[in-house]
Amino acid sequence: MSGQSPRSAGRPARRPQTALIAAGRPADEPGQPLNVPIVLASNFRAGGQDGTGGREYSRGDGTPGWEALEEVIGELEGGDAVAFGSGMAAIAAVLDPLPAGARVVVPTDCYAGVHALLADGQQQGRWHVDLVDITDTAAAIAAARQADLVWLESPTNPLLDIADLPALCAAARDGGALVAVDNTFATPLLQQPIAFGADFTVHSATKFLGGHSDLLLGVAVAGRPELGERLRRRREVAGAVPGALETFLVMRGLRTLALRLEQGQRSAGELARRLAGHPAVTRVRYPGLADHPGHAQAAAQMTGFGAVLGFEVPTAAAASTVCAAVRVVRSATSLGGVESTIERRARLSGQEHLPPGFLRLSVGCEHIEDLWDDLSGALAQAGA
Ligand SMILES: Cc1ncc(COP(=O)(O)O)c(C=O)c1O
Repeated sequence: MSGQSPRSAGRPARRPQTALIAAGRPADEPGQPLNVPIVLASNFRAGGQDGTGGREYSRGDGTPGWEALEEVIGELEGGDAVAFGSGMAAIAAVLDPLPAGARVVVPTDCYAGVHALLADGQQQGRWHVDLVDITDTAAAIAAARQADLVWLESPTNPLLDIADLPALCAAARDGGALVAVDNTFATPLLQQPIAFGADFTVHSATKFLGGHSDLLLGVAVAGRPELGERLRRRREVAGAVPGALETFLVMRGLRTLALRLEQGQRSAGELARRLAGHPAVTRVRYPGLADHPGHAQAAAQMTGFGAVLGFEVPTAAAASTVCAAVRVVRSATSLGGVESTIERRARLSGQEHLPPGFLRLSVGCEHIEDLWDDLSGALAQAGA
């Protein structure tokens, strides 16, 4: 699967940073706008009465905005991209078509919404869920060989565990299972799971792809055309479509993704090093640190370590005080925005496996020294 849309077919391969800027544009002709405008339309003029003749109703036939967005993400991921109303809608579109009784392998540490969706399905008798520690590659491979679908995140949310993606994709394939990788933390700039053999990647575009904490949108990318059709069918029948404004805003965000990620990642690496040397911090989790258990694997399969890190302080109370004390970093859920955000994830249900003093920090584009002054001041206030 080349991931090339008709508009990009035949063009020489370009670097992802250029694709982010250049893909998904209207025709390069005099008088055309440079960006695909927001098209607010449910209906389009009908073509032939036999059902041929192009776009008629946007839930099934799409909008120019979705198509532009799908062109960009498809090129970056090397697959057939399908845009959804949220990350969870994209995830549900991958999981819903599984046959009754399917076995799904999922990481113990994984975005809590995926656990919730899978738990609901298991309760309804739709499928059987196996939780695995994906840092234990041998155990994960054994589970993958028995599965119908292997769900992976790497780095995981929120503990930043790293999975051996090529090994797990190969094992799943040997056993006839599909593999889906949530690539939200890495973005397609840092990791392309389809190249490792994944059948699907998914994104919460709400996070880094949009990048401004002002929308919800999801994308699922299929490694094979028939799986792309399956995603489109789910979107149409479930009505899980993205809005025109959200699609436009994600396109605008994508144009600066490389710059935002580069800045956030550079600061995340530096903050991880400084936090690791801070007397109040008991542990730092960032795949870019040489002592992270997944460092070598991350270096082998990613082109950067991303802009999210985790760190621990001794108690839940100290962690809560850090969140209350920060002023530059925002105490908020979610991640991937231009503004840095911090959250004590164990305060949420479904996150009972997390250390109580664990903080997830999404590093944005502020000046590194302002971030460090803020964090070190908050740690001091926590009495830590
Ligand atoms: C890794 C990951 N995947 C999926 C989702 C779900 O995305 P959305 O909130 O856009 O539905 C999230 C949301 O936090 C996430 O962090």
